[in-house]
Amino acid sequence: MDIGSLTSTQLAYGAAAVGATSCTAYLLYKGVRSCLRSDAQRLREDELCLQDGAIFLNHGSFGTVPRSIVAMQQELRKEMEQHPDRWFRRLARQYFSENSAAAAELIKAPTDCVAIVDNATTGINAVLNSIPLSGDDEVMTTDWTYQPVKNTVDCVCERRGIKPFCMCLDFPVVSEDALVKQFKEGLAEHPNVRVCILDHITSPSAVLMPIKRLSAICHSRNVRVLVDGAHSPGQIDLNMSDLPHVDYYTGNLHKWCFAPRGCALLYAKRELKEEILPAVISWWWRKPFVERFNFLATRDQTQLFSVREALSFIQNKLGGQQAMVKHNSELASSAADMLARVWSTERLPIPHHLEAPNMKLIRLPLEGLIESAEDLMMEIYDRFNIMVCTFGIKGVPYCRISANVYNEFWEYERLGEAVLQLRTEKMCQMNAEK
Ligand SMILES: Cc1ncc(COP(=O)(O)O)c(C=O)c1O
Repeated sequence: MDIGSLTSTQLAYGAAAVGATSCTAYLLYKGVRSCLRSDAQRLREDELCLQDGAIFLNHGSFGTVPRSIVAMQQELRKEMEQHPDRWFRRLARQYFSENSAAAAELIKAPTDCVAIVDNATTGINAVLNSIPLSGDDEVMTTDWTYQPVKNTVDCVCERRGIKPFCMCLDFPVVSEDALVKQFKEGLAEHPNVRVCILDHITSPSAVLMPIKRLSAICHSRNVRVLVDGAHSPGQIDLNMSDLPHVDYYTGNLHKWCFAPRGCALLYAKRELKEEILPAVISWWWRKPFVERFNFLATRDQTQLFSVREALSFIQNKLGGQQAMVKHNSELASSAADMLARVWSTERLPIPHHLEAPNMKLIRLPLEGLIESAEDLMMEIYDRFNIMVCTFGIKGVPYCRISANVYNEFWEYERLGEAVLQLRTEKMCQMNAEK
């Protein structure tokens, strides 16, 4: 038995069973627990705010913000209130440039090419609304593009009188070469494509796209490349000089980098960046690229000013990004194998090197037993207090697990048992209705 995973109530009952008072039981619980805590538990309890007893296997959706970063943002808010004029007229400029520089360092890009923005969607909107497009031009996405991004493309195309083009990619993915070949042929059939949106990691399917090869194909056809890297910072080691055919890159810092929500980066190549305007025009729209994204009207920007601190958290508390991703990807992989074994199913049928490091998909053993894979997510939460992403791919129900430093193997085992229990119940129900 894993004592570390017992709740305080369970341990208190145990102590009471051997005759300890509730106070002694509590002290015993604290003592036993602090001795037996794993690194993951220690991190979760000491550094994070996650609710006791809840199992979080869905970091990929909204991330989580460490206590120290919550406190730091609170301090910044206090500083803003102590002297609003000093804050908006002086400090905000300094903080914006320091934190944009930290984001640039993270993706190894020049500081004048990276601005901090509210989220990946904001970055994508800024680029699509700014670049020159007209007449018969087409904007390309794939059927794996995130739906709100597709909505942005449709809206921008409608407003600007141009056409969207969505390329359907084969699933399952047989090999990286097959994916690249299909992409190349599809693009050749659409000579009017002027800009292509490439997901670095697709959502919810968590496919790690070979963006270096795909972006080179785009450039060979004079197509600009906008990468949607919503899931990449903190999960993929980014180096923009290694991606010469990527013109624009946006990525969230509020997912895998532990920054407060409403925090992302937007990179634009030096020769293209001055074209890009924020979606909201305010004071500094004529200033250079980075600065014009600051002060988009009066608002609280303290989340953006916490980027540097969030990146330091990874360095100082988690041993750096490389160590963090090694831990997460190993845990995600072994948990995925275990779930596929327990459920007698399999991982997503794609080559393993095309799987996102920290997120894996496993087929659910619930085909024909559930009406909506999307609704299952909240059923698993309501019944078992486990948060995990579930959805359908071409009618087949899948589960996307995330792994982070606060997760432990037994949590995925609980998920495995929960789904098997649901399957048994749903089969009984189905048989009773026959
Ligand atoms: C692939 C992808 N793109 C874009 C987004 C949008 O991110 P945000 O809502 O932070 O703008 C997400 C969110 O999960 C995503 O998964």
